[in-house]
Amino acid sequence: MIDSFEKNPISIHENNKAAAKAVAAEIAALIREKAKKDQPCILGLATGSTPKTLYAELVRLHREEKLSFKNVITFNLDEYYPMQPDAKQSYHNFMHTHLFGHIDIDPKNIHIPDGTIDKSKIHAYGVEFDKQIELAGGIDLQVLGIGLNGHIGFNEPGASRNSITRLAALDNGTRLANAYEFDNISQVPRLSITMGISTILKAKRIVMMAFGASKAAIVHIAVEGQITDKVPASFLQEHTNCTYFLDEASAQELTRITSPWLTGEIEWTEKMIRKAVCTMAAEEKKPLLMLTRDDYYHAGLADLLEKHGTVSDINLKVFNGLRDTITGWPGGKPNEDVPRHPERRNPASKRVIIFSPHPDDDIISMGGTFNRLVQQGHDVHVGYQTSGNIAVSDEFVMRQIDFTVEFDNAFNIDKSRSAKIWEDALTFIKGKTPHQKDTQEIRDIKGMIRRTEARATCRYVGVKDQNIHFMNLPFYETGLIQKNPPTEADIQIHIDLIKKIKPHQIFAAGDFADPHGTHKVCFDVMLAALQRLKAANDESVKECRLWLYRGAWAEWEMWNIDMAIPMSPDQVLQKRNGIFIHQSQKDGVVFQGADSREFWQRAEDRNAGTADLFDQLGLPQYAALEAFMRFEY
Ligand code: F6R
Repeated sequence: MIDSFEKNPISIHENNKAAAKAVAAEIAALIREKAKKDQPCILGLATGSTPKTLYAELVRLHREEKLSFKNVITFNLDEYYPMQPDAKQSYHNFMHTHLFGHIDIDPKNIHIPDGTIDKSKIHAYGVEFDKQIELAGGIDLQVLGIGLNGHIGFNEPGASRNSITRLAALDNGTRLANAYEFDNISQVPRLSITMGISTILKAKRIVMMAFGASKAAIVHIAVEGQITDKVPASFLQEHTNCTYFLDEASAQELTRITSPWLTGEIEWTEKMIRKAVCTMAAEEKKPLLMLTRDDYYHAGLADLLEKHGTVSDINLKVFNGLRDTITGWPGGKPNEDVPRHPERRNPASKRVIIFSPHPDDDIISMGGTFNRLVQQGHDVHVGYQTSGNIAVSDEFVMRQIDFTVEFDNAFNIDKSRSAKIWEDALTFIKGKTPHQKDTQEIRDIKGMIRRTEARATCRYVGVKDQNIHFMNLPFYETGLIQKNPPTEADIQIHIDLIKKIKPHQIFAAGDFADPHGTHKVCFDVMLAALQRLKAANDESVKECRLWLYRGAWAEWEMWNIDMAIPMSPDQVLQKRNGIFIHQSQKDGVVFQGADSREFWQRAEDRNAGTADLFDQLGLPQYAALEAFMRFEY
């Protein structure tokens, strides 16, 4: 039944590496098959963040499994216009850095649109580019990524089905999404040369890759929606050999995931029942206890009724389940036996670790709960996993050094040293090129700034100084957006802290959609530490429950919420002031992304949104709710 929703075949993988490996294997097989027949293999290639893991895997295949690219001819989808090929942000440079510089392809077999061509000649150039593809025998396999607005190549919404390689304007949203490659948004070109939609559709095989939660909505629309020029990727539905390779996050809005009861047989677990009923209630805009038999039939839930009793039984069961998640006692309610309370009441005072990937996720994501845990007498520790130093602006650093110079002058403290740091920093920052790595000194200062903010927040909430732990995970310390792969050292730092504290509760970020992947790595190494301790029967985790909060980007779905902590309007304000303490992250941040809201606004919108959802389902009305999912490790 999936086929009645999805108009392209879809291959879902555990993560982007696994998906990239599958695509690389297909490409490698094709190259080898062609080589055997002494034929060229014509590949269409994309740039952007998505195919990086694919290219890394192809490079590995070349190095370790002798995959040769001698018979490969490539055509790239697009290039910014105007753009010098040797510019850092050019797609020429991208391809050289990620693929061509590491394989044995013949340079004359590489074709990337030329961003330096005279404007008046671009039309002829585009016609010629497409002719070159045809002369080579047509593209055997085209790799694509998808833009947040559904663009393919740089064919933005409105592009014609019949378009050929040409000059095309970039949407402002695309420019914003790609601004991270440039110094600032104003430097992102407004134009590009891109293969047209008809050029792309002529490929014999198309592999579309999309990773991460940010792509989930557009993947759903492109694959399940109508074909329309408003969503250029929807034209791929016309192609008879185009497969989407997704990770779990980008697949999450497909009907087979959001409403699996519509696409096949399913097992009605408690979570699945909650998911089905909450989804139906949201669609019908009805409180849970008002849902009728007709609603169940409309929502395709006859099967649920057949297997699990009457409408009122199911409504009530889901209602009670959600009601029981709400508590003002995140560490358990002492001295009172509350049946079905999400936490144990004993011990009344628990040892708690809040793991915060960046120095402000604790307060942004669970500030209300953080505060309650401290107020309710638990021994709350915070483990700040990374230094967060890349997210501090140069201007902010200079202001702090300036202060230090003044301070040292005023109190006669080793003036020459601070003056020298000031001089060095000034010279470096003046000559700094976009995305250049900071000096170690500046990175250290940026880390210090974030530590002082985190400590101030802890003081504000009431955490003891000795309970603040700066873990400075090594994987993060590259000074660049691109981080190192995590290692044993990152896991060991967690093990040491957990063994020292012996927590009854751990709160950790289970938000895997953060733009630079830091939350996910922090989660993975924390989980590895917990699992190792558990496997070794270590005392430190015997009584430890793991609760996951979500970061600033999204909330847990209703059916995944196991504990919901309400906040009064006053508590919302108190949390806001706690977030304000992170001054280096206020009034616009270094990596703003497409969402122009500040972190306190995102947090408030999200917490109020969760409260609204409970309210709409007929549960009590609160100003805000912070939600947690229990995770069995
Ligand atoms: C890149 C290209 C674009 C990207 C798309 C997704 O050559 O043509 O269509 O594939 O913008 O970009 P990322 O992968 O950076 O999310």
